[in-house]
Amino acid sequence: MAILFTGIKQLLTFAGDAAPRAGAAMRETGLVKNAAVLVENGLIEAAGPRAAVLRHRLAKKARVVEVNGVCLPGFADSHTHAVFAEPRLKDFSMRTAGASYQDIKAAGGGIISSVGAVRAQPLKAMTAQLAARAARFLECGTTTAEVKSGYGLSLDSELKMLRAVREAAKLTPLELLPTLLAAHSVPPEFGGDAQKYLDYVTAEILPKAAAEKLAVFADIFCEKGYFTPEQTTAYLKEAARLGLRPKVHSEQLSNYGGTRAGAAAGAVSADHADHVYAEDIAAMRDAGTIATLLPASNFYLGLAKYPPARELISEGVPVALATDFNPGTCPCWNMQFVLAAACTHCAMTPEEALCAATVNGAWALDLGDRLGAVTPGMQADLAFFDAGDYRELCYYFGANQCVMTVKKGKIVHGKGR
Ligand code: NIG
Ligand code: FE
Repeated sequence: MAILFTGIKQLLTFAGDAAPRAGAAMRETGLVKNAAVLVENGLIEAAGPRAAVLRHRLAKKARVVEVNGVCLPGFADSHTHAVFAEPRLKDFSMRTAGASYQDIKAAGGGIISSVGAVRAQPLKAMTAQLAARAARFLECGTTTAEVKSGYGLSLDSELKMLRAVREAAKLTPLELLPTLLAAHSVPPEFGGDAQKYLDYVTAEILPKAAAEKLAVFADIFCEKGYFTPEQTTAYLKEAARLGLRPKVHSEQLSNYGGTRAGAAAGAVSADHADHVYAEDIAAMRDAGTIATLLPASNFYLGLAKYPPARELISEGVPVALATDFNPGTCPCWNMQFVLAAACTHCAMTPEEALCAATVNGAWALDLGDRLGAVTPGMQADLAFFDAGDYRELCYYFGANQCVMTVKKGKIVHGKGR
């Protein structure tokens, strides 16, 4: 049965080219006031001024849901580490006592301290935990989330993490996109030999993940003490050869070359970009690589430096925003907080931030042709907020203003359920 969402004070359609938005196009929200959206069979049938949508042939017979707020495409959170067994409270205490991310790693914390519990956790428990977390994402207006492995760091445990994503996707309406991040850190049994570990990942984990179609993307953490730009290029090229789309964690803690290496390997996105300079920015623009900014992690780590969003946008690099939800650097699943952080700390306008969290997030997942805009034929993934003006989503922070979430035309959270 069709559903007619009406009484919408402001609808952001993000109608526009079927391509990642860059430059001034990031500020084109497709705003419609006093709007309605008609959905059927999981797709948008009509969206726009209320009077026009009401004339649609399906409008009369549709179930009517009165909404009194702002409607957006559901958030596409294109960077999360949502599979992990335990919060890292010891790391947190160290950090509140003044230790940096690098200090915590040197003391045996960081990524490696998540590995033991993930290796020990049975697949069933991991799956249930991820499905429960997925409900929290939906409550906050996120309708699609990428999920990385990267806390297993062995064949069995990395594949287990990816299987948990596959199994959890059957239990939640949240759309989950799996990423192999076996190249996240060097596990202790390799004695710090990053190349030896990467050879093992390339020979054992990558081909099996590809053969079982357990991952859509392959990612690598390019940073001092993790993996080099040369290793990043070689690894991502091999991943691409096996059919996994490259992504890269780059320029997070220093300018190290991962962004250029990722762009050269055809990365769909280069994520973090805190320390990018002009040549990194040019490499992204020329390769069509999206810059995925994760300012909630900068906030959580108490960093003074944030990614140079203004420069990226003015140079024509499409910018996406994501949570980076993970147990070490960003225990936050709420994209609304990311919007506030991006506007406050990266000088993004609310229009740019909302574009980055929806349509460009969808493109960072290679799904922009069906997600990220509220226009006829697109998937009916919608988020509704208790607000009179879309800018309130970036203005209020630390709260959840989402009152209803729709995934593939079904109300999966909120009042109309
Ligand atoms: O994106 N930088 C590497 N990966 C994560 C951190 C993961 C962790 O600390 O567990 C990030 O910030
Ligand atoms: Fe990350």
